[in-house]
Amino acid sequence: MSDTTSNGKIESHSLEVETYPPSAEFKAQANLSDSSVYWKAAQDPEAYWAGRARELKWTKPFTEVLDWSNPPFAKWFQDGELNVAANCLDRHVSNGLSDRVAIHFEGEPGDTRTITYGELTHEVKRAANMLTALGVSQGDRVAIYMPMIPETVIAMLACARLGAAHSVVFGGFSAESLRSRIDDAEAEIVITADGGHRKGRVSALKPTVDDALRIDHGDGKASTVKKVLVVKRGGNEVEMQAGRDLWWHDEISSFDGEHTAKGFPAENPLFILYTSGTTGKPKGILHTSGGYLTQAAATHSDVFDLKPESDVYWCTADVGWITGHSYVVYGPLANGATQVIYEGTPDSPDWGRWWQIVEKYKVSILYTAPTAIRSCMKVGRQVPEQYDLSSIRVLGSVGEPINPEAWRWYHEVIGGGKAPIVDTWWQTETGAMMIAPLPGLTSLKPGSAQAAQPGIDVNVVDDNGNRVDPGHGGLLTIRRPWPSMVRTIWGDDQRFIDTYWEKFGDQYFAGDGARVDEDGDIWLLGRVDDVMNVSGHRLSTTEIESSLVEHHAVAEAAVVGADDETTGQAVVAFVILKSQQQLLTPEAAEAELRQHVSAQIGAIARPRQVFIVNELPKTRSGKIMRRLLKQAAEGKEIGDTTTLADTAVMQTISARVRSEQGK
Ligand code: WT7
Repeated sequence: MSDTTSNGKIESHSLEVETYPPSAEFKAQANLSDSSVYWKAAQDPEAYWAGRARELKWTKPFTEVLDWSNPPFAKWFQDGELNVAANCLDRHVSNGLSDRVAIHFEGEPGDTRTITYGELTHEVKRAANMLTALGVSQGDRVAIYMPMIPETVIAMLACARLGAAHSVVFGGFSAESLRSRIDDAEAEIVITADGGHRKGRVSALKPTVDDALRIDHGDGKASTVKKVLVVKRGGNEVEMQAGRDLWWHDEISSFDGEHTAKGFPAENPLFILYTSGTTGKPKGILHTSGGYLTQAAATHSDVFDLKPESDVYWCTADVGWITGHSYVVYGPLANGATQVIYEGTPDSPDWGRWWQIVEKYKVSILYTAPTAIRSCMKVGRQVPEQYDLSSIRVLGSVGEPINPEAWRWYHEVIGGGKAPIVDTWWQTETGAMMIAPLPGLTSLKPGSAQAAQPGIDVNVVDDNGNRVDPGHGGLLTIRRPWPSMVRTIWGDDQRFIDTYWEKFGDQYFAGDGARVDEDGDIWLLGRVDDVMNVSGHRLSTTEIESSLVEHHAVAEAAVVGADDETTGQAVVAFVILKSQQQLLTPEAAEAELRQHVSAQIGAIARPRQVFIVNELPKTRSGKIMRRLLKQAAEGKEIGDTTTLADTAVMQTISARVRSEQGK
């Protein structure tokens, strides 16, 4: 039972969820408008992916699609060879697209650069020559710690061109976090910048690299780093260590743009990207070349309905995250798209900045995170309404479930009521989108990521791995290997097996809860493990707890992700101080511990609140009941406390939180 309303929206009474079918105009021009794509791919997923892979340029064609003889270690297209960077660059130049704009760069201070595919190719070749002269070759690891500027993309592609793996570390991470990632990957080169522009100031990066490389682990071992290449961007004063540190512009000046790309095996490592897990140690997610590029490019084209010749695409993610890897660098460039890259934050100099950029470049596809949408909602629709956003035709969302209220606001205020919203579910580990609507086919439901992409086999199961009935909640798993899947955790195959495959054996367990509705659409329900999602970024409760207990004043700590209106979840810590520290006022301890976590891990991990408590709620066997702490932090009624060793503890803690919240 459904009625069509004036704006094409259909109210579905039976499900009490409104749906938004594609408009006739959108469907008529869509890349995909025939739903047979789903069942055709499902009949023979390997043939489907082989076809998508052949859209790329292979220097040696593959004959074998998937080798799954040694699960969970997949090999895709393994006897084929390709150069990932040449697929993103030279291929388009050979196709006569040299003059097409690849990047419209907008610096935060207002400086701009327009870079064509021809120019980008030239710069990447020069950078590849420079890195070769510095000793980089196939199989090496290069750490990249950069602001959002074109050189970051150039550096990544130059590594890819040489068959070396990059490990991009988000610029907001601390020296300690950077160092542990450098050590784990044994990177010999770090590419950084003096600083970048952020919120109207220069935010320094090079000094953090210096600090990272100075850290003495007490084992007398220096870092593996031999050279640090520094891009001049912020103009801030930096120290250059003779013999180790080199200015990018000095080094590159002696190299021309002659460089022939070699093909590398499809399973050659492309990058390592660290992400938080349920333990204190971040996991180095390894992605390889052919399969990764195939799925990043295919989903970027299908899900955004990309028209490379006319669209202007903008993904607001930082390249320090997987979204920046797959949907700023590899997907869009493999597809020959024109995109915007913006250095700064949405509120600099004011909250109109993003919308001014959309108007200026006539952005037609915008991909961002629910937390950003909610921040804009808070500021109010009067801000975006001052700009001409009529160029927008597709909107994307990623990082966490988008709440229907934010979905409707995004649809109406940013999308003018006409642009479909694609809510894309995927992970650092999946490498590319897995569940998302296809905008020419899917009747959209606000809040649901909806359907697995063609050729992808996801499942919602109970604890025993059996499919749950529609309407029921369960765990999200992926049954068949997919081209852009994580190949292993760098240096730790066993952890790869234990983390993702232990639970169900033959299915990848994603760590997310989900529900399938009567139509078969998937609704993501958030993490079911000790992983928090703050502003679409993944943080580990254990990692923050370890950081807190490393502080000399802390005896014990428990961290939870509490619901937060803007950031989705927020870090809330409950801390017991060592008895000799009881003289520290709670206010002073709270401030110091928030700062401590920020310095140790990075500003994104800084707790919203730290509560100093005398006891933590524990079961009789000594397990901390984080679920109860989460309820307290959210100001909710505390549920069943009968399993606690001391039932009074939670009353004291709730009272403490309430008095704090009331302030
Ligand atoms: C986790 C992965 C994918 C790039 C950004 C985050 C959550 C991500 C959605 C979505 C519901 C989502 C999941 C997932 N997540 N996108 N559209 N709907 N949840 O990458 O840091 O690897 O985090 O983010 O919980 O497991 P990540």
